[in-house]
Amino acid sequence: MAQQRTLARYLTEEQRNKGVITGDLKLLVDIVSRACQAISIAIGKGGLGGVLGEAGSDNVQGEAQKKLDVLSNDILLDANEWGGHLAAMASEEMDLPHLVPHRFPKGEYLLTFDPLDGSSNIDVNVSIGTIFSVLKCPDGADLSTPEAAEKAFLQPGTAQVAAGYAVYGPTTLLVLTVGDGVAVFTLDREQGQFILTQENVQIPADTKEFAINMSNQRFWEAPVQRYVAEMQAGKEGPLGKDYNMRWVASMVADVHRIMTRGGIFMYPMDSKLKDKGGKLRLMYEANPMAFLIEQAGGAATTGRQRILDIQPDNLHQRVPVILGSKNEVDRVTGYHTA
Ligand code: AHG
Ligand code: MN
Ligand code: MN
Repeated sequence: MAQQRTLARYLTEEQRNKGVITGDLKLLVDIVSRACQAISIAIGKGGLGGVLGEAGSDNVQGEAQKKLDVLSNDILLDANEWGGHLAAMASEEMDLPHLVPHRFPKGEYLLTFDPLDGSSNIDVNVSIGTIFSVLKCPDGADLSTPEAAEKAFLQPGTAQVAAGYAVYGPTTLLVLTVGDGVAVFTLDREQGQFILTQENVQIPADTKEFAINMSNQRFWEAPVQRYVAEMQAGKEGPLGKDYNMRWVASMVADVHRIMTRGGIFMYPMDSKLKDKGGKLRLMYEANPMAFLIEQAGGAATTGRQRILDIQPDNLHQRVPVILGSKNEVDRVTGYHTA
């Protein structure tokens, strides 16, 4: 039987043979993967573990938190504090960055995460996930207070050194890039290990499948109205083919479908999101997913700009997101810039 390649082995080879990552980054990804395993176990218990339902609190974005949003955030914070690989963490669920406590050594990396993506799907037993992104902490960054530390995180997505997501579906998967393509690992629940099941993921450039929340149609801008109308026109329309639609409403699940068989995902700007800048969060959702999608040969824009080029001006910034199969993303981006 061919030897299994565990996540630990994959990371060691990226470090030792290819020199793509440092020992600390290896430790960081390994710790995040263990936190995702712990989250996966908690999710798997569902109603038996008392993890479903509301937490009874709101997060910084004014969204009602679910018990699993809070639990997943705590699991990621606890797992990452002690390793000595991190300078600070930031989360969708926390107002300010979380500094590594003084009793632990500090490292050179910054970690951001959406601890539980797809909150509206928790209680209905549909796939949910965790998304994370890793940056280097700039030399001389002021980490004296959580307020001061925010500045260190405000780097464009091109500066990411790793990004990934876990999807808690029929199987639990970890999808990872360290800037050397995209690899997929499947959780072996008996062994308690992630095993490499796919390497060098490539997203087809063309697709017949789109993902968008159609209930927002009347709020969209003209370029997205045009593109979706053209797709709906099918074979007889200007795009000359029939399209199918899928919308899980967990970004991890929608992006993972695109990683697997292509497609285009859109949470575009709309008139009711104008004040917020968009729906999805740049640091916790758009940037890590854009890095992964580009590493798999796809594209990711706001409609007007490459997502990875955005210079963030605040930690919880929101942006429009259009990502997936390259030719389709280029088409709808062209409609915005024409
Ligand atoms: P989160 O659960 O982290 O707040 O993210 C939910 C996001 C994303 O996962 C998904 O694509 C989108 O919100 C769904 O939005 P709608 O409910 O508007 O469809
Ligand atoms: Mn999310
Ligand atoms: Mn979330």
